[in-house]
Amino acid sequence: MSLKGKDLLTLKDWSSEEIFQVLELAEKLKKENKEGTFHPLLKGKTLGMIFQKASTRTRISFEVAMWQLGGYALFLNPQDLQMGRGEPIKDTARVLARYLEGIMIRTFSHSEVEELAHYADIPVVNGLTDTYHPCQALADVLTIREHKGDFKGLKVAYLGDGNNVAHSLILACAKVGINVSAACPTGYEPDEEVVNWALKNRLVPDSEITVTSSPQEALNNADVVYTDVWASMGQEGEHKERLEIFKPFQLNQSLLKQAKSDAIVLHCLPAHREEEITDEVIEGPQSAVMDQAENRLHAQKAVLALVMG
Ligand code: CP
Ligand code: NVA
Repeated sequence: MSLKGKDLLTLKDWSSEEIFQVLELAEKLKKENKEGTFHPLLKGKTLGMIFQKASTRTRISFEVAMWQLGGYALFLNPQDLQMGRGEPIKDTARVLARYLEGIMIRTFSHSEVEELAHYADIPVVNGLTDTYHPCQALADVLTIREHKGDFKGLKVAYLGDGNNVAHSLILACAKVGINVSAACPTGYEPDEEVVNWALKNRLVPDSEITVTSSPQEALNNADVVYTDVWASMGQEGEHKERLEIFKPFQLNQSLLKQAKSDAIVLHCLPAHREEEITDEVIEGPQSAVMDQAENRLHAQKAVLALVMG
């Protein structure tokens, strides 16, 4: 199945088969990388990377991914682009498409990514918007498969804010057949539209996709426990107020004990210790967060090789 030319905007637009294809290639490329085998699948190709928000993992893993695939990654600071002075996205998109073979963009509004993808006739990869973080979710399911083997019957408990990371995690779990239960404070649940879409399009017809306000309910029988920051980029002004609201959802040792004893802990990072997760848990024996961060590289190499190759 050829994925050449395909955008990666939300994961809704990627079938289960396509996601499994990414996972298989990611595993192969990771193995080759560890063995020191060079795989120049994107020799001579260039990826432009636009960042409207800060990043450590996404920027570095995409840049290294292109290098390891024999291509080149160009960091584009919107402040230095004419875009920062008001040049329309549709012009930027069409111009970039004349120079590059792919664009990665991290921004605020998801509609900007959609507009970019509409006008650029090269693949556009969403590196995080206010609503979705598909590259993270691909690395997440890759990490779950590495640690747990088969997805069949697994349950992910997500604690905290029903944000971009939660949305993409729910979509990815639905697409690969993992049960997922999100525990969020009232008013901070994932978008109903995303949950309903996941329910309608899940790979396994009776897989669980639920939202609750009870961390205990989500954690019951969970194989994976996932959390993310309580105030995302752009919500800094709400940080203080959210600290109070989200307190009961902190992933600490006593909540973790309510999941299966061999559950792994995931966090997309950056983490705020003693807020959404305690230092004890993130540094503890069940934490797989560094494997998860590493897998951003391998999952994205697979995506890039498939869509730009
Ligand atoms: N998880 C993640 O996307 O990290 P960065 O914000 O550092 O890219
Ligand atoms: N939800 C977080 C994820 C950061 C990778 C944010 O959007 O800031």
